[in-house]
Order: sequence, then C-alpha cells, then structure tokens
Amino acid sequence: MDAITPPEPPMRLRDLIDAMRKLGKAMRDTGPQAAHVSDARGAALAVTTSEGAIVSMNRSAAALLGYTGAELAGKRLADIAHEEDRTDVERQLYAVDANEPFRSFDVTLAGRTGHRMHLHVYQQTFASGDADAPLRLLLFVEPLPAYGETTPHEAAQKDAYSRSIWLTRGQQRERERLAAELHDGMGQALTLIKLMVEDARMRLRRGQADDAAQLLDAAVLQIRDSIGEMRQICGELRPLALERLGLPAALSTLCRRVEQSVETLRVVLSCDVEDSEIPEHLKADIFRIVQEALNNVVKHAAASEIRIELQRDAAHLLLSIRDDGPGYDKHPLRPDDASSNGLGLIGMQHRVEAQGGAFTMNACDDGGTEVSARWRL
Ligand SMILES: Nc1ncnc2c1ncn2[C@@H]1O[C@H](COP(=O)(O)OP(=O)(O)OP(=O)(O)O)[C@@H](O)[C@H]1O
Ligand SMILES: [Mg+2]
Repeated sequence: MDAITPPEPPMRLRDLIDAMRKLGKAMRDTGPQAAHVSDARGAALAVTTSEGAIVSMNRSAAALLGYTGAELAGKRLADIAHEEDRTDVERQLYAVDANEPFRSFDVTLAGRTGHRMHLHVYQQTFASGDADAPLRLLLFVEPLPAYGETTPHEAAQKDAYSRSIWLTRGQQRERERLAAELHDGMGQALTLIKLMVEDARMRLRRGQADDAAQLLDAAVLQIRDSIGEMRQICGELRPLALERLGLPAALSTLCRRVEQSVETLRVVLSCDVEDSEIPEHLKADIFRIVQEALNNVVKHAAASEIRIELQRDAAHLLLSIRDDGPGYDKHPLRPDDASSNGLGLIGMQHRVEAQGGAFTMNACDDGGTEVSARWRL
C-alpha cells in the first residue's frame, strides 16, 4: 500500500455540515434502510477527493477497517482493497453518475488483517474552497448478512423477535471488531513490553545496568501509550458512569474531570431534567455529544468558561453547550494530525439527526461558540 502525498483541497466547516445534512436527508428519502451494524463510536465517516484519495477519516471508519486514521490519511480507497477488488472500487469512483451529488453503492475493501469487508457507501459531493476540486463525504455502513430468505430490512420489520436478532448480530460484529482492535493494538504492545522487560532483566544479570535502564525507560513510555489507548477504547464504549449513575450524574462527573485537567477553565452544568425523564435511546448520544463538544472547546477554543444546559419543555429535550472562546473559525479545515481529522462535529450532527433531532452550531454575538441539539419527546 503506497502512501501518496496527502491532498490538501481546502475544506470548509459550513460546507461539511451542509453536506452531512444533505446526505442524511437523501438517505432518509431513499426509503427504509436495510438493517446495518451500528457502532458505539458513531457514524463511520470519511472525506475523499473525487479521485478517491482520503483527505480525512474518523476513528469509527478507520476502526471498521482495523486501521488508525493516521495510517489511512493520504491513501486511496482502492489501496485498501484486494488486487481483485480494486477495479470494482475504481469503477464505483468513476461511474457515469459519479458526479451526482448523492449516490450510494457497494464496495469490497480489505481490513488490516486482509479479510474482505463488504460495505455500503452513502456519498455526498460538496464544494471545497477550490471550485475545480469538489470533495466527497462518505458514510460507510456494514450491512448485516442475510437472515434466511428475508432481507435484513424485512426481517427487522417483521417482529420484535427478528429486531432483537439483528441488534444482537450488530453487537456481535462490534465485539469482533473490538476484540481485533485489542488483539492488534494492546496485545502487541503488551508482548513488546514483556520482551523489553525480559531483555532488561538479562542485561542486569550481565551487569549492563545502563543498557537495562534505557530499556526500562522505553518500556515505561510504551506502557504509558498503552494506558492511553486502553482509556480511549473504554471511553468509546458505553461509558460506565452512564450505566452506574444515570445521565445527569455522568455529565457532572465528565465536567469535573475536564475542569481538573484544564485549570483555567470553569465548566458550569445546569441540568433541569431527571434521568428518568430522558429517553433511554438518547442517553449515550447526549453523553457523546457533550464529550466531543468539551474536547473541541479544550482543543480549539482557549475558553475560560463552558456552560452546558440540558432542559425540557412540553415537547422537546434541549441541549446546549456554549463557550466564551474566540468562536469557531471560518477558514478551511486542515486535518493535519492524528488527533484532529475535522469530522467530530459532523459525527455529532449525524447522531442528533439520525434520531430525528435538530443540530445547530452558532457563533455567539459576544464571541464564543454554541452547539445545540433538540429532540422531540
Ligand atoms: N468550540 C469551538 N471553538 C472554536 N473552534 C471550534 C470549536 N469547535 C470546533 N471548532 C472548529 O471546528 C473545527 C471542526 O471541529 P471537529 O470537531 O469537526 O474537528 P476536529 O476537532 O478538528 O477533529 P476531530 O475529528 O478529532 O474532532 C475544528 O478544527 C475547529 O477549527
Ligand atoms: Mg473535534
């Protein structure tokens, strides 16, 4: 898989948010969707050039294929397919209707371990800052295998029993992916640490104390990385605090943690709803949205205060996260490091809109940024 020079067509946040909205609407308009595997990490999203070069890919999409986002940046989609599937991937990318704003098609890609993955792709073309180089927003969906003679959708519609089978299959697939991720990431890291410690022990026995100390220093760094990776994987699954404490208390814990990690930041949470008043299917989404919005404020806003409000009126649940930073920028997004790929906000937007909610992001009059979501109860 040869790396190519990362393409840099300017990508504007507003265009991306607009493309996500159009993609979601077109998906809904194309009729009832087949059952597919959902992932605790949220929608698997990527932005590519019209030649299929990956500009940006979120963790969910990379994890679906068993890679990290950084490993895939600058590659072409066809690069992550087996030789025999490449022509088909190219054919999809250059199809006669490839420039239709919205398309959906199937591709077979290869996961890191070489296994073939059949994925359904929803694609929305959108303008970039460079008028001659439109970009494409891709949403990858892993269809569930057929269930007897019925299609996934028919089975999912049929009765509650079938629906629970699909849900269970979806969860099984997610667990398989997680197991592969733990095996490839954590498993290999632990093996490496074991080898380093054994090597250090051998050198100590031979009286090579300095060499042993160097090896142990490297092992400590490796352990630190692995702890970070483990925390990330755990945090991406349904947060334990949510299970144990309910949403209001879990949000409060999250806010305190952010306050502790950034000394100059005050996080004010005002939650006027009881846990029992919040629909079960929205709880994890709300937690994730607040988590991503807090991450964004810490990463991009240099704010001194964040106000989070969760309220309800007669018919709606309302969430707003507002900071007093410099406001979200209108200059092109340049995903340039592994921790930032510019797809967090539209992932958030997808979560809200997929449950029938409305998502907005506003620059506040007095500076700062407000992200809000609203769901009908
Ligand atoms: N609260 C905020 N204040 C200022 N700028 C913001 C804020 N939230 C987002 N932004 C801007 O919007 C951009 C897009 O945010 P988004 O969360 O989609 O991507 P990201 O944080 O760069 O990467 P990631 O995919 O890791 O979330 C950011 O790069 C940043 O420039
Ligand atoms: Mg972000």
